[in-house]
Amino acid sequence: MRLLITGVTGLLGANLAWEARQAGFAVWGVAARRPLPGAPFPMRTVDLTAPAALDAVWAWARPDAVIHTAALAHVDACERDPARAREVNAVLPGALATRAAQAGVPLVHISTDAVFDGTRGDYTEDDPPNPRNVYARTKLEGERAVLAAHPGAAVARVNFFGWSLTGGRSLAEWFLDNLQAGRPMRGFTDVWFCPLLANHLAQVLLAMLARGLTGVYHATSPQCTTKYAFGVALAQTFGYDPDLIRPATVDDAGLTAPRPRRLTLRSDKLTQALGRPLPDWRAGLQAWHRQFTTGYTEDLRAWLTSPLEDAHADYCLL
Ligand SMILES: NC(=O)c1ccc[n+]([C@@H]2O[C@H](COP(=O)([O-])OP(=O)(O)OC[C@H]3O[C@@H](n4cnc5c(N)ncnc54)[C@H](OP(=O)(O)O)[C@@H]3O)[C@@H](O)[C@H]2O)c1
Repeated sequence: MRLLITGVTGLLGANLAWEARQAGFAVWGVAARRPLPGAPFPMRTVDLTAPAALDAVWAWARPDAVIHTAALAHVDACERDPARAREVNAVLPGALATRAAQAGVPLVHISTDAVFDGTRGDYTEDDPPNPRNVYARTKLEGERAVLAAHPGAAVARVNFFGWSLTGGRSLAEWFLDNLQAGRPMRGFTDVWFCPLLANHLAQVLLAMLARGLTGVYHATSPQCTTKYAFGVALAQTFGYDPDLIRPATVDDAGLTAPRPRRLTLRSDKLTQALGRPLPDWRAGLQAWHRQFTTGYTEDLRAWLTSPLEDAHADYCLL
C-alpha cells in the first residue's frame, strides 16, 4: 500500500515513516524545505500551500492512504504570524481532505491536545474544545475543515516525544541535552500532559488506518504526568542527576502564547476501537532509551545525509 506522509522531516513524520516501512507500507514523503537525501523512500520538498502543489504531489505519490502530520507546530511562531498559521494548519488540511475525498483515499489528520483550554482536564472526544492560542485555534479549524470535506477521515489529537532528525524538536531531547551537559533546567510542575513515544503513536495511527476509523480520537498515553515529573523520570532512565531539573511554574517562563495547564485527555474511545490498550509514557521512555542504546537515533539521522556524500568523504580520506 502506498502511504503519503506529509511533514516527513518532522518529529512525528520521520518516526512514522520508519514505523510504516517496518509495517510493510511503501512510503512517499513530503516536507517543506529540508530534503532527506539518505532516506530509504522517495521524498519531495514542496510548500503544500503553494498553488497546484497538492495536485502535483498527488500525481507523484498516487497514494492509497494519507497521514497528514505537516503543520506550523511552533506555538510562539503561530502567535507571531496568525495568517500563515491559519494557511498551514487550517486551510491546507481542508484542501488535502477534499483531494483525498475526491479520490476515495482514507486520511488520518494529526491534531493536538491543545484544542482544550486545560482548566479541567480529563477530556473526552465529546467535550467542547476551547483553544487558548493561535496555534490551537488554527489546529481546531483544521480538524473541522478535514471532517467537513472528508466523511471517511480520522482526526487524531496527539501529544508525543521522540528522536527528531535535527535533535532539537522534542521536549525529551531538550531535557536529555541539558542533562548530558550538566546544565540545570526548569520543569513545570503545573503543566500536565499524556505523551506517547512517537513510534508508539505511529503504530497507533497505522492501526487506525487499518481499522478504517473515522471521526475524532484522542491518541494519547492512558497515564498522564507533569513536565517536571517526566523530566525526572527521563533523568533516572538515562542515569543522570534528576536534581538538575528544578521545579517551576509555567507563569514564570515568559512564553509568548498562553499555555494550557491540564491537557489530560482520555483515550478510552480509541482503546475500545482498537481492542487493545495504548502504550503509556513510561513504557515509551523505556523504549526511547532502548532506541538510544541500539543505534536507532543514528540510523534515523542518516536520512539527512546522502549516501553519495558519505562515499565521497571516504574517497577523499583515501
Ligand atoms: N510536537 C508535539 O509535541 C505535538 C503535540 C501535539 C500535536 N502535534 C501535531 O503533530 C503534528 C506533527 O508535529 P511535529 O512536532 O512532528 O512537527 P515538526 O517537527 O515541526 O514538523 C513539521 C513538518 O511539517 C512540514 N511542513 C510545515 N509546513 C509545510 C508546508 N507548508 N508544506 C509542506 N510541509 C510543511 C515541515 O517541513 P520542513 O521540515 O521542511 O519545514 C516538517 O516536515 C502536527 O500536526 C502538530 O500540530 C505535535
